[in-house]
Amino acid sequence: MKTLLTNGIIVTAVDTYRADLLIEDEQIALIGPNLGNLIEADKVIDASGKYIMPGGIDVHTHLAMPFGGTVSCDNFYTGHRGAAFGGTTCHVDFAIQTKGESLTHAVEDWQQNRANGNAVIDYSFHVAITDLNDKTMAEIGTLPELGVTTIKLFLAYKNVLQVDDTTLFQAFQQAGENGVLTMIHAENGDVIDILIQKALASGNTSPLWHALTRPPEAEAEATNRAIRLASMADAPVYIVHLSECGALDALVQAKARGEMAYAETCTQYLFRTKDDLDKPDFEGAKYVCSPPLREPEDSEALWQALSTGELSVLSTDHCPFNFAEQKVLGKDDFSKIPNGCPGIEDRLMAFYEHGVNSGRISLNRFVELNATNPAKFMGMYPQKGTIAIGSDADIVIWDPEAKHTISAATHHMNIDYNLYEGMEVRGKPEKVYSRGRLLVDGDDFLGEKGSGRFVKRSQAILL
Ligand code: URP
Ligand code: ZN
Ligand code: ZN
Repeated sequence: MKTLLTNGIIVTAVDTYRADLLIEDEQIALIGPNLGNLIEADKVIDASGKYIMPGGIDVHTHLAMPFGGTVSCDNFYTGHRGAAFGGTTCHVDFAIQTKGESLTHAVEDWQQNRANGNAVIDYSFHVAITDLNDKTMAEIGTLPELGVTTIKLFLAYKNVLQVDDTTLFQAFQQAGENGVLTMIHAENGDVIDILIQKALASGNTSPLWHALTRPPEAEAEATNRAIRLASMADAPVYIVHLSECGALDALVQAKARGEMAYAETCTQYLFRTKDDLDKPDFEGAKYVCSPPLREPEDSEALWQALSTGELSVLSTDHCPFNFAEQKVLGKDDFSKIPNGCPGIEDRLMAFYEHGVNSGRISLNRFVELNATNPAKFMGMYPQKGTIAIGSDADIVIWDPEAKHTISAATHHMNIDYNLYEGMEVRGKPEKVYSRGRLLVDGDDFLGEKGSGRFVKRSQAILL
C-alpha cells in the first residue's frame, strides 16, 4: 500500500521544509520534491498548508494501573484512542512489579492483561521496581533482552511503592552497568507521610492539603539525592515529572558538573497551579497528582527550561481517575484521593497553542520535546520520533489553522472531566498515521483494537 502526502511542510527537530512524502506499507519510503511525477500511489493526500510531523511519543503514562484501591480509567484501547486524536502515536507505560514477583512477570502481566487485544498505537514498558532482592537485581541486567531499557523507582508513596536508599543506589549501579536508564519519582516519601498524618490529625482533609503536605522542598531534596546517588554509582538518571524550581536547580547544577542527569516535566505543571486544588465542591480533587501542582513561578521556570534545553522531554503522566466515582474516594480524606491527572490527548494541542503560537517554543523544539527526544531517551530512535526514510510512518498531518476548544464533551479519553476544559487552541491533528495505518481522519477514528505493537527498545541515546 502506497500513500503519497504532497506539498506538506515537513517538520523535524532540526529542519522545516516543503516536500512530498511516500508511505509504503509501515514505513516512510521516500521524501523529495514532486514525487507524484515519479510514483503511482494508491492514495494521494494533498497536505498543502499543513505540517507533517512525527507522531508524538508520550513516555510517561499509566493505563489501567491499580492505584489507591482503584484502577486508572483509561485502558489500552480508550487511552490509545485519545492519544491518537491528540497526535500521539506511541507511548511508554509503567509495568509495576508486584512484591514477590519478578520484573519479567510485570512486563508479561501488562502485556497480556492490558495491551494485548486492545492496543491501537505502538507502546512499550518501563518496569517500576518495588521489591529489589538478589534475584530481581540480576534481572535488571537481562531486561534489555526483552526490549525494556528503562526502570523506575519511587522515592515516595511510603509502604506502597517507595524504595529506600540502599535499593536506590544498588539499582543505579546495576542499571548503569547494563545500559539501563533509571527513572526516578523524586519526592521524599518519609517526610510526606509525617506531614499527611499531622494534617489529618488536625482535621485538614480537603484536596488543597495534598499540595500542602507535599512541599517543594520534599521534591528538591529527593531530586538532589537521586542525582547525587546516580553520580556516585556512575549511572545516568532521568527524573520524571519534575515540577518545581528547587528540583530544577538540582538538575541544572548536576548538568553544570557534567553529570548524566536528565528530566522531563508534564503538561499539567505548565498550565495548572496549586490554587486549582482549592476549587470549591471538592473540584480540587480533579487536580490531585504527585508531585502536586505548584506556584505560577514554578510553571514559568519550567517553560523556560523546556525552551533552553535544561528539561529534555514533555510528557503527560496520564493517569486518569473519574471525578464521580474515583476521585470521590477521598471526599473526607485527601490522602485517599487517587493520584493522577489525564492529558494524553491534550499534550500536543495545549503545548502548541501556548508554546508555538505564543512564540515561546520553536516548531522544531516542539517536535524535539514531544517526539524526537522521547524516542532518543527511550531507545526508539530513529525507528520513531522523526520524519526520515526508513522510519516508521508514525505521522501527524497538523493543521496549524484549525481551531478547537478542549473539552470533556468532545475528547476521546474515557474520563468524565478534562484538566484543560475550555482551553481554546489553534492547531490540531487532521490525519494521524501509525506505521502507515490511518488512525484518525478528521473526527473519525479508524483504529483497530489489537493493531498496536510492542516496541522493543535499545539503549538510551543520552543528550
Ligand atoms: O499522581 C501521579 N503522578 N500518579 C501516577 C503515579 C506516579 O507517581 O507517576
Ligand atoms: Zn511518579
Ligand atoms: Zn507517573
